[in-house]
Amino acid sequence: MATTIEQPVKTKAEPELLGLLAEFDDPNALIEASKKVRDAGYRKWDTHTPFPLHGIDEAMGIKWTILPWIVAACGLTGGTIAIGMQYWMNAVNYPFLISGKPLFSIPACIPITFELSVLLAAFGAFFGMLVLNQLPKLYNPLFKSEAFRRATNDRFFISMDAKDAKFSEIDSGEFLHSLNPIGVEEFWSDVESPKLPRNLKLALALVGVLLLMPPALVAYKRSTTTNSPRIHIVPDMDFQPKLKAQNTTNLFPDGREVRPNIKGTIPRGQFKDDNIPFYYGLKYLPEDQDVVVIALQDEKKTDAKKTEEKPPADPKADAAKTPAEKPADPAVDAAAAEASKLEKLPWVTEFPMPVTEKMMARGKERYRIYCSACHGLGGEGDGLVSLRAMDLQQGTWVKPASYHTDNVRKLPVGRLYHTITHGVRKMPAYGAQVPPEDRWAIVLYLRALQKSHEIDATTIPEAEKRKLRDTK
Ligand code: HEC
Repeated sequence: MATTIEQPVKTKAEPELLGLLAEFDDPNALIEASKKVRDAGYRKWDTHTPFPLHGIDEAMGIKWTILPWIVAACGLTGGTIAIGMQYWMNAVNYPFLISGKPLFSIPACIPITFELSVLLAAFGAFFGMLVLNQLPKLYNPLFKSEAFRRATNDRFFISMDAKDAKFSEIDSGEFLHSLNPIGVEEFWSDVESPKLPRNLKLALALVGVLLLMPPALVAYKRSTTTNSPRIHIVPDMDFQPKLKAQNTTNLFPDGREVRPNIKGTIPRGQFKDDNIPFYYGLKYLPEDQDVVVIALQDEKKTDAKKTEEKPPADPKADAAKTPAEKPADPAVDAAAAEASKLEKLPWVTEFPMPVTEKMMARGKERYRIYCSACHGLGGEGDGLVSLRAMDLQQGTWVKPASYHTDNVRKLPVGRLYHTITHGVRKMPAYGAQVPPEDRWAIVLYLRALQKSHEIDATTIPEAEKRKLRDTK
């Protein structure tokens, strides 16, 4: 209790008047009463009815909710954040050029802008509604009133909050009585709120502690080191009983996991010896094994090293050197020897398949993809890559051969096929990228290019010439 008069200490034991409750038994009486309360200038009051009452909003003077404005503001905020975020990420912080498209353009931003606008608008609607209604509210002192229970059944109530500026215990009570209710009741705050049961408190504390444990464990594990291996939840994906290309093993005597091909084996669908002209560009594989090996240059390189016992004998590497270094190098002789050996091989001189217009079209397309960068669209050795390389003048670039020299003109088709498959001197091999049919198609187109340069323009009929002029 209060000990001194100067400082009256308000103890918790004193209940506080929270408001007044007027009970009506008729909806119309409630509406009429509400109008009077409204007109009397009260602000903090409410009505409670078992069912929605038409006209009660107006009678109470309730204004339109501001929720739509909250939703609109949230939606606009979401849209602005989305656009700003995308602009910042794509055009400022990490500009990434994709297919030459602009770094920032509104159409590309629409999906995310739409999503974020809707998301924040929905949040605004949901949480705005809760806040405006002061929800969630698990307890209301009105619930203590016996009479108020009939608010969900057949009675109508006006509750008036004591916090209202106009409220005074006596005047407001008289005012409510003047509205002809069945009764007016005061409602008071609780003397002391009931305590939570001990067991519930214990259980909540336990749950709280348990919830803290996973993050604590994660934090601990992240900041310490351990010698024990990771926990593998699905170990069969992490540890597979298989060998990988670049690893070692003691399963095989040579310690390599990747196995070399067994001599004499041929992968499925790669048996070539039944169509030697098609696969090798040769009429037949010569008896002389040494010569055959030259035709299959890739294998030759390893052989050459063995026989010559001289590490830098790789003709390709030598060709890469500057012309000044070349003459003194014995590798030039080796290249010349190789060239003469290649010359002696039985190259096919006819195409080993019927030549069709379709094949020519395919050849043109493939040529433009694989060869024109260096050799140029017309085969003059003036491809863009070559022009650029000449521009840079680095000295190591060998100009791609023109197809319109006697040297290349006299090469049999089998030899051209071989050039594409294995490359020649400075020219890289294209056998890995271009399958045999396409190589032959390219050879066909190459021949057509050569013909186009040899022909005497006056011998072309006028109609054909016009056609040529009209097509690109
Ligand atoms: C990376 C550039 C490059 C590409 C791509 C290229 N070549 Fe070559 N090509 C060269 C060079 C360089 C030479 C001259 C090699 C030398 O003399 O050292 C050459 C030479 C040739 C020769 C003459 C061969 C000889 O024996 O004299 C032919 C034929 C040829 N290329 C055809 C092709 C065909 C067909 C393609 C497309 C599949 C192609 N090239 C793609 C760079 C290229």
